[in-house]
Amino acid sequence: MITKWTTELRYLPYNDWSDNQIIAIKKKISLSHWRLGYHIQPTTGLLNDPNGFSYFNGQWHLFYQSFPYGPVHGLKNWTHLTSNDLVHWQDHGPLLLPGDKQDSHGAYSGSAIPIDNKLFLMYTGNVRDKQWVRHPKQDGAWLNCDNQIQKISTPLIEQPQKGFTDHFRDPQILYNAGKYYCLIGARKKDNTGHVLVYQADSVTGPWKYQTELKFTDQKMGYMIECPNLVFVDGRPVLIFCPQGIHQNVLKHANIYPNAYVIGKDFDWDTFSFVEPTEIRNLDDGFDVYATEGFNAPDGRTLAVSWIGLPDTTYPSDVEGWANCYSLVKELSIKDNQLYQKPVVENNRLVDEEINSKEIAPQTKISAKVKANTSGEIVIKTEFDEELQVAIDATNGKILVDRTNAGISFAKDYGTTRLSKVDAGKDISIDLYLDNTVFEIYINGGLRVITGRIFPKGKRFFVESDNVSFQKVKLDKIY
Ligand code: FRU
Repeated sequence: MITKWTTELRYLPYNDWSDNQIIAIKKKISLSHWRLGYHIQPTTGLLNDPNGFSYFNGQWHLFYQSFPYGPVHGLKNWTHLTSNDLVHWQDHGPLLLPGDKQDSHGAYSGSAIPIDNKLFLMYTGNVRDKQWVRHPKQDGAWLNCDNQIQKISTPLIEQPQKGFTDHFRDPQILYNAGKYYCLIGARKKDNTGHVLVYQADSVTGPWKYQTELKFTDQKMGYMIECPNLVFVDGRPVLIFCPQGIHQNVLKHANIYPNAYVIGKDFDWDTFSFVEPTEIRNLDDGFDVYATEGFNAPDGRTLAVSWIGLPDTTYPSDVEGWANCYSLVKELSIKDNQLYQKPVVENNRLVDEEINSKEIAPQTKISAKVKANTSGEIVIKTEFDEELQVAIDATNGKILVDRTNAGISFAKDYGTTRLSKVDAGKDISIDLYLDNTVFEIYINGGLRVITGRIFPKGKRFFVESDNVSFQKVKLDKIY
């Protein structure tokens, strides 16, 4: 097994790897202690951003940024997943492969849009020269109905806009009133983060720079990654990752936040949000980043998040894999607040009610704490490791503590997270546990706390105090 991941190894062309590398990782993973039951996880190696989330040819499509040869960031491809129900996913393996002139050092993040009988993919080609200087290209590719890829060898956007640095990536393609648009995350030469808007009459170009997306007057850190504009009941929501954003602008606990802003309306002539809200955290937990959303043809606004963070290592690295995705979530807006809820199709996972203290590693716990009381749920293992969820319905606070939940990691960023809701009201939670990942949906998805845990234990037990709750076993899909 490789213990020192040099730059050379990370960027070794795929053809130069022997099959044994993947065989060895698969063997390790087959003995894994921390694999998941019903969350999307990489077959081997590292998974990061969701890409190309779309509905095409009668199926849901989703790709993951993947480095298959080890649990590190290296030469990335898009690995293809399809689903009939947004819950059960089939992994078809790496599909959009790096290594051509326009994507020599990685097929980086992007999005997809169906056009006639094909799916158009727009992505960032990470290109580096001999001096290791980046030359980001915005590239295109077509997926046909047989799930075959054909890349477009000439970049759609050859270089960053004047005044911007080589941090220029993650195109989101959009269609409105007969025209195509794309949003690109960018870092200006003055080290500020922005979202740039391009427009084209045809997806293959020419793509023309329009302006910066206007959604705030405040400084968005030094770089914005993974911008996504979606519409919820006609209202614009920008989901994005403002790296280095000041704590005064967005109080956040993780190394990098995943944020959102809602507008009252969107002006397509000036690319501005009308009456934007303040910038908010999408998730109050430990590990969410790079969420990708899109407006599905069935009218729903769907999103899926990477549960993992850049520049962070995870205990599962020793097993040859890293990271996973959230459940697919449906977005809605109520009282100017964004709600995220696992799509209704997740009910298909429900197997049977659990009446014992011991629960399955794949369990959904639905709990309620009455107004002006406090309650607690503790998930324990046979080694007394514990994940605590303290619910204070007097002050409207939900505190999640993973301090003693197993092997600690990313602890420089703290081991507790707090969510706030209205004081003096009932609080309800739906906690999805899947061995080493948990997603806690509070008050119907008004707040979400997501995170990983890496216990030594294999058996899980629930203890509770002053909560009424129900536990159901979720069936395995992998
Ligand atoms: C975010 C990100 C993107 C980039 C991709 C590379 O996690 O850094 O900006 O396109 O990952 O894998």
